[in-house]
Amino acid sequence: MSDTPAYTRRRPRMDPDAHRRILAEVARVGRLDASEITDATKNLRDGLLQPIEDAPEAVDLPMQAAPAAPAAPESAAEMSLPPAAHQDAVGDLPAPAVAARPDVWPSLASIAVKGKVLDRNLVITANRTDPAYASFDVLRTRLVQALREKGWKRVAITSPTSGCGKSFTATNLAMTLSRYENCRTVLLDMDLRRPSLARYLGQSKAGSMGAMLRGEVSMADHLKRMSAEGANIGDNLAVGLNDTPESYASELFQQPKTTEVLDQIEADLNPDVILYDLPPALAQDDVISFRQHFDCVLLVVGGGLTTAKEVKEVNRRMGEDKPVLGVVLNMAEDKSDNTYVY
Ligand SMILES: Nc1ncnc2c1ncn2[C@@H]1O[C@H](COP(=O)(O)OP(=O)(O)OP(=O)(O)O)[C@@H](O)[C@H]1O
Ligand SMILES: [Mg+2]
Repeated sequence: MSDTPAYTRRRPRMDPDAHRRILAEVARVGRLDASEITDATKNLRDGLLQPIEDAPEAVDLPMQAAPAAPAAPESAAEMSLPPAAHQDAVGDLPAPAVAARPDVWPSLASIAVKGKVLDRNLVITANRTDPAYASFDVLRTRLVQALREKGWKRVAITSPTSGCGKSFTATNLAMTLSRYENCRTVLLDMDLRRPSLARYLGQSKAGSMGAMLRGEVSMADHLKRMSAEGANIGDNLAVGLNDTPESYASELFQQPKTTEVLDQIEADLNPDVILYDLPPALAQDDVISFRQHFDCVLLVVGGGLTTAKEVKEVNRRMGEDKPVLGVVLNMAEDKSDNTYVY
């Protein structure tokens, strides 16, 4: 391991087999104490992560059985399943309450994402071509349960340092959430300095998130609903992407207009889950500046990258009122294969 701080390192380069070895697991819902963090990180580093086959089963929420990974579709027609066939039942999650304000959701413009592009960009939950999608289904179920129990909806996805897989996790989780009936998900790219969700979704004209937060573009114009083109995506996902990096992200997050715009998204779209893809928590003060806008944290730790000390520091910075709801152990790869470039 290099002594260079992880957030100054280059992004890891994945070997061709890497995405067959994706291991994403919610270690625990609730606040982790120091020894649990140490154990989780030690296991991660020792390669002792629970294999996908042993991932914990979803509990309580009745779910449609996850289908076996389908063969790669041969034509777009094969992929155009009727909505009921590619949506998962959300069990006893209540239908969205009737909003007091007009429901803006149906009027959002939609963007088409191509299944092949998603596959190429490791959005494995779209077409379920990689068995690792099952881990995201478990994550989805646990997350929705935990949010429901606590009455929360705003989830910050962050990691101690860069390149741990925050955007990978956010995108895959959003895709799998989109298939829940009666559960609306909004995914927002809040890594304003280094946006990347547009790249994951293969969108070149993503618009400016900063312009939306400043009120220069309305949220109804900026946010888009996802529609599938040869991709197995549900109807219930809206995304806010960004093609314009912002140098003053932290300051923008603290502006009253930002609060107004984010409150309006909640009021007008009535989402059940809002996923914020955030920057690394230890790099700058963006995540701390954004803290009033989320209820809890999903912490992504990267195999071979994250140390127990860094995880503890994130926990400390978040404070008691912003609990770490779960930890995703991502990229638990064999470090002997020179996977990481420093
Ligand atoms: N489990 C995985 N298997 C294979 N590749 C992965 C995995 N997770 C992430 N990657 C790849 O690693 C790189 C970094 O992932 P990602 O962009 O999601 O990290 P990040 O934490 O959002 O980084 P940043 O802090 O720069 O925003 C990307 O190229 C991504 O496709
Ligand atoms: Mg990212």
